[in-house]
Amino acid sequence: MRTTTLGRGGAEVGRIGLGCMGMSWAYDEAGRDDTESIKVIRRAIDLGVTLIDTADAYGPFSNEQLVGRALRGRRDEVVLATKVGLMPDGERTLHRNARPEYIRGAIDGSLARLGVDYVDLYQLHRVDPAVPLAESWGALADLVAAGKVRAIGLSEATVDEIREAHAIHPVASVQSELSLWTRDRLADVVPYTEEHGIAFLPFSPLGRGFLTGRITSAEQLAEGDMRRKLPRFQGAAFEANQALVEKVTALAERLGVTPGQVALAWVVAQGEYVVPIPGTKRLRYLEENAAAGDVDLPADALAELDALPAAVGDRYGTAIAGATVSPR
Ligand SMILES: NC(=O)c1ccc[n+]([C@@H]2O[C@H](COP(=O)([O-])OP(=O)(O)OC[C@H]3O[C@@H](n4cnc5c(N)ncnc54)[C@H](OP(=O)(O)O)[C@@H]3O)[C@@H](O)[C@H]2O)c1
Repeated sequence: MRTTTLGRGGAEVGRIGLGCMGMSWAYDEAGRDDTESIKVIRRAIDLGVTLIDTADAYGPFSNEQLVGRALRGRRDEVVLATKVGLMPDGERTLHRNARPEYIRGAIDGSLARLGVDYVDLYQLHRVDPAVPLAESWGALADLVAAGKVRAIGLSEATVDEIREAHAIHPVASVQSELSLWTRDRLADVVPYTEEHGIAFLPFSPLGRGFLTGRITSAEQLAEGDMRRKLPRFQGAAFEANQALVEKVTALAERLGVTPGQVALAWVVAQGEYVVPIPGTKRLRYLEENAAAGDVDLPADALAELDALPAAVGDRYGTAIAGATVSPR
């Protein structure tokens, strides 16, 4: 697996990372298989997929515990990333909380669940409009000074927010949705991060599985799978978006790779410090995704992908991770 660094001067990571959310939450929770997921994480390390992403919110908490179990004895081989500042309540409504005192307590919980004494990357899951960013970011920077985290990052932040934070303490990474069907950030955050040597970590780089061509109807998704609530997976939008997948599939066949590998290789091609974190709980998919790190798309293929039509439907609508985002 080819490598890059977590931004200019950052830790070395494989060009493809691993998102662990779906192993515990959001997608097909009834199909959860911790034993298999642990195998996936450990195999990922063998393959050079060294950036491992989780969050306290996933489960909540159980995903960090799972990652901790998987990393026993192998902690030093990975760049371990988790998040703070977004937490579901019992109704699965997600609440933002980026108050300094909350952040200070949350890191200790994450370290305990992960079974480590520091994390490599601690990300603010969402900027909290109720708390000045300087205060949230200052609390995160204090954790670097305390040795509990090595670097800090943002998630779904705007260029203005990244600039403000960067002036206080270096922003190591920004995580946001980026894929062939969500390309908005190419217009602002991706060029900004590239210029400033900040890593950009695309989440849902496979369009939550849609771009692999393996989801052929919304009914195929389990009851309670959060994707059933997302506008792009519903009715006419789902049908219209199949046209996108058909184009990606045709290109993949020409190149002798899979549609998912085309989707990931296109994301990787967006910048030196762009490291997608596709999620899977299956060894077969993990191996396919890892191999995408070594796929070079020729210029005409990249141009063809750049010219794909926009997806039909909002990416979230009112649903996020099975819940509605609280304005708090
Ligand atoms: N910062 C944020 O707010 C935020 C939001 C969302 C996600 N994330 C992070 O980003 C990570 C990835 O995003 P994601 O899981 O939403 O979306 P994704 O990586 O685009 O897609 C994951 C889905 O695709 C399926 N899949 C994976 N590889 C496949 C392959 N080769 N062939 C067919 N299907 C495949 C998975 O199936 P199986 O599970 O059945 O293997 C899963 O259902 C998450 O795990 C999380 O760490 C962050």
